Amino acid sequence: MSKKRIFSGAQPTGRLHLGNYLGALKNWVELQDEYDSIFCIVNLHALTLPQDPKTLRKSTLDLARVYLAAGIDPSKAVIFLQSDVPAHAELTWVLLCTARMGELERMTQFKDKAKGNTERAGVGLFSYPVLMASDILLYQTNLVPVGHDQKQHLELTRDLAERFNRDFGETFTIPEVFIPKAGARIRSLQDPAKKMSKSDENEAGAIFLDDGADAIAKKIKRAVTDSGTEISFDESRPAIHNLLTIYQLVTGKSEQECVDNFAGKGYGQFKAELADAVIEYLRPFQEQIASFDDASVAKILQDGAEKARSIASETLADAYAKLGIVT
Ligand code: AMP
Ligand code: TRP
Repeated sequence: MSKKRIFSGAQPTGRLHLGNYLGALKNWVELQDEYDSIFCIVNLHALTLPQDPKTLRKSTLDLARVYLAAGIDPSKAVIFLQSDVPAHAELTWVLLCTARMGELERMTQFKDKAKGNTERAGVGLFSYPVLMASDILLYQTNLVPVGHDQKQHLELTRDLAERFNRDFGETFTIPEVFIPKAGARIRSLQDPAKKMSKSDENEAGAIFLDDGADAIAKKIKRAVTDSGTEISFDESRPAIHNLLTIYQLVTGKSEQECVDNFAGKGYGQFKAELADAVIEYLRPFQEQIASFDDASVAKILQDGAEKARSIASETLADAYAKLGIVT
């Protein structure tokens, strides 16, 4: 029996943080043996907000290095740039013609990113989830591993696929979302009501993957805590819950082992042990990242694009044929 397929991607905007790693990348790496895996660098998505061209170019290639250093193995998984496969933009047009204003207006990420001013928000930002749906549907994807903030976009993807299949005949596989039990919503170290985010004005809220040991230790030391002293997985104390979740994921310990480890210890000691664990966890990644030279990254992306194009063009041709588009 052939393997089921996973597809996921991240935007080459800003620096990746521990939330991206624990909510997404870590799971991609763990799933790549079991699934036929395709990981995209979604540089067209980045255009939904203003970007400096030079920075975008650099961040795109840096993100390829992040994928590789995190452990995505190009001999097992396809790694490619969204812009290298024109079918993404083409299928987006088709699906935009089937999507409804109302269903896109409901997307909470659009409302967040538009910052309440939808009159001035870009039309690209508004239609962004349809580009994401095209990414997924072109590859007949079974499973999409993402953090919690993408769940609503996955529901839209399923709705668009079901509508197309119903109206024009079986064309797209209906994808399932894969959201990890722990780590799907890593919170800001400065404000646990918010998620850890690339665009947080307060840099102290996020641990970036390229932060040095001192910066990591300092940010964890300054992380806000809740009232009370017990170190436990208590949802009503989101700051400690978040820090303990990070500890659990970077050490690979069970919840009970984490709680036992800190029984009777104070916040000071907890934070010191957590900082050490995070620094150790990121060390191999940080050592790896410099080892991929430009030429080998370019070759991996070129090979990836070729494989991606051959799968995507088949799906697009099928969709066009069903719609009566002569090609
Ligand atoms: P992005 O950087 O927005 O392209 O996101 C890449 C991946 O990281 C997506 O699967 C997101 O759901 C995931 N992600 C982003 N922020 C967090 C977070 N704070 N906690 C967990 N996952 C996250
Ligand atoms: N929208 C996702 C994010 O901002 C990135 C993304 C684009 C994606 N296309 C995708 C994730 C397809 C999974 C599958 O994080």
